[in-house]
Amino acid sequence: MIYLDNSATSFPKPETVGQAMLNFINNIGANPGRSGHVLSIEAAKVVYYAREEIAELFGVSDPLRVVFSSNATESINMVIKGMCKPGDHVLVSPMEHNAVMRCLENCRSHDVSFSVLPSNDEGMVLVDKMAEAILPNTVLIIVNHVSNVSGLIQPIREIGKTAKELNIPFLIDAAQSAGVFDINMETDNIDLVAFTGHKALYGPQGTGGLVIADEFSHDRIAPLKYGGTGSKSECEVQPSFLPDKFESGTQNAVGIAGLLEGVKYIKKIGLDNIRAKEKELAKRLYEGLSSIPGIKIYSKNNENYASTIPFTIDSITTSEISDILNEKYGVLCRAGLHCSPGAHSKIGTYPDGTARLSPGWFTTQEEIDKTIEAIKEMVNGS
Ligand SMILES: Cc1ncc(COP(=O)(O)O)c(C=O)c1O
Repeated sequence: MIYLDNSATSFPKPETVGQAMLNFINNIGANPGRSGHVLSIEAAKVVYYAREEIAELFGVSDPLRVVFSSNATESINMVIKGMCKPGDHVLVSPMEHNAVMRCLENCRSHDVSFSVLPSNDEGMVLVDKMAEAILPNTVLIIVNHVSNVSGLIQPIREIGKTAKELNIPFLIDAAQSAGVFDINMETDNIDLVAFTGHKALYGPQGTGGLVIADEFSHDRIAPLKYGGTGSKSECEVQPSFLPDKFESGTQNAVGIAGLLEGVKYIKKIGLDNIRAKEKELAKRLYEGLSSIPGIKIYSKNNENYASTIPFTIDSITTSEISDILNEKYGVLCRAGLHCSPGAHSKIGTYPDGTARLSPGWFTTQEEIDKTIEAIKEMVNGS
């Protein structure tokens, strides 16, 4: 089996991820931050260490500014629903995932509007035209750092600088980028980062979070959910301090234990090394596929693209491509619109979508070569 669906979720995971989860379940087990006994304290330590690692990863000094959630979707909902009031306006890139778009569509009924930032044909935000798109009621800018559709990398540092000059909070969707690309919320002028744990951070599914920049006041965000936090139990009003304000209910501490190991693992390898390897694999894949007649690739082999390769083949539908690759060759990829119809419209692949190959840290050159051979044979046999 050749797993090339790392943009959907990374697989396999570092061994330590599963080991830590098993250890938590078998040997710790207690509810973090609730009881005062030794196991509850042990559980709370695991969660706190994970906050520390993640805060450092994103260049935030206070670990308590890392709020855990179940995934990037929940974190994005937290920000949009928690910040936007009737009459407010939001600006987005043209490459957003439904995690953003469906939430914004839902907010229309609460009189929140949105529009799309100016961009080039590939969907890259035109930073020097951003100011023209700002309305007097714009309260938030949201940009998908790395496109799950084409792999396009947005110039977040420049966007962040401009957003700061315009005095508008800036949220990045780091679902695809966290763990591969450096993100420093201070130097990149990012107010809020929504991340998911199960992709390039190599944690388990059901983990993720929102990181709030040191300078950004969390008073500007209302909680998405209310309830028990283990703190201030005498009070029936939601705590206002971080991270408890946003973390009601028992957490996925087992998942966070796994995520902690995922983050430690990528830090040990080094993001630069991960990016370099993925770049090499993507180049090989890109060059191999480019030599096959009838194939169209919708990413580029340059600095502006991550290792996600979307393609179509004349006369074979994208779902057939993925079915044949799966059944005949054991190559696992994802076909269709990847929860991002707007991004596909932008790059001209709506409504059919593309087949998407996404190597990860554990992918080998041999697997890439076998995949190219499989696609060659599929094209010749069709
Ligand atoms: C760019 C982007 N944003 C958000 C998400 C949602 O992530 P999750 O399903 O973990 O919430 C994804 C998942 O594919 C994604 O690729």
